[in-house]
Amino acid sequence: MTELQNGNGQEFHSVSASGEKREHLYKVLVIGDLGVGKTSVIKRYVHQFFSQHYRATIGVDFALKVINWDADTLIRLQLWDIAGQERFGNMTRVYYKEAVGAFIVFDVTRVSTFEAVAKWKNDLDSKVQLPNGSNIPVVLLANKCDQAKEGLVQNNSQMDEYCKDKGFIGWFETSAKENINIDEAARFLVTSILTNDKENPVDRDQDKDKIDLDAHDAGESEGKGSCC
Ligand code: GTP
Ligand code: MG
Repeated sequence: MTELQNGNGQEFHSVSASGEKREHLYKVLVIGDLGVGKTSVIKRYVHQFFSQHYRATIGVDFALKVINWDADTLIRLQLWDIAGQERFGNMTRVYYKEAVGAFIVFDVTRVSTFEAVAKWKNDLDSKVQLPNGSNIPVVLLANKCDQAKEGLVQNNSQMDEYCKDKGFIGWFETSAKENINIDEAARFLVTSILTNDKENPVDRDQDKDKIDLDAHDAGESEGKGSCC
């Protein structure tokens, strides 16, 4: 197999005997209130790991998930794990730049975190759009579903209505602890991102602005840092 690289050292295509494999690098945001489980969802998704121990994220953390989507497509999801304490601040605009999809997470045991969902969605929609001007696709995650639920999330049809109303492409009850629905939610979001990308391909040069997480094709990696 031959790796073709651009000047930046990021490979875009792998050429094998069967032909060319398309690679996509997508920036995906993970936002929501303090302690709802954003970092835990990412750790479960990328590393199959969960800890009860809570350590608040400071600023933003990064993780990379490499997905062998199909025989012809490899996807690198650059996950931006934004601290709940960044809440609608000036930094969110910088963090959101060039994202093509997002998860908004709330905690089913704390109604206040659900009430904040609309604020996170408004913040997002006001600060980032796809190149064609439309909102980026956002999936709502009702996390900690292994625990007793409070409020709206007890009623599925009301949640469906809420998501339609607020412009979410869908919602999933998830548990980082019990590994429930996280892969499914990610697949759903990536499907939407791929559809948008096919309809309005993003200029490849924009990928150069993204942080190189140096995955070395290992499947996944993680980094910490402040942004831009
Ligand atoms: P900030 O970084 O402060 O914004 O928080 P966060 O959203 O990243 O939350 P984090 O992933 O650190 O999780 C907060 C706490 O909730 C930790 O103690 C986790 O163990 C716990 N937690 C996360 N997901 C779940 C879950 O699905 N079920 C249960 N029972 N606990 C969870
Ligand atoms: Mg965190």
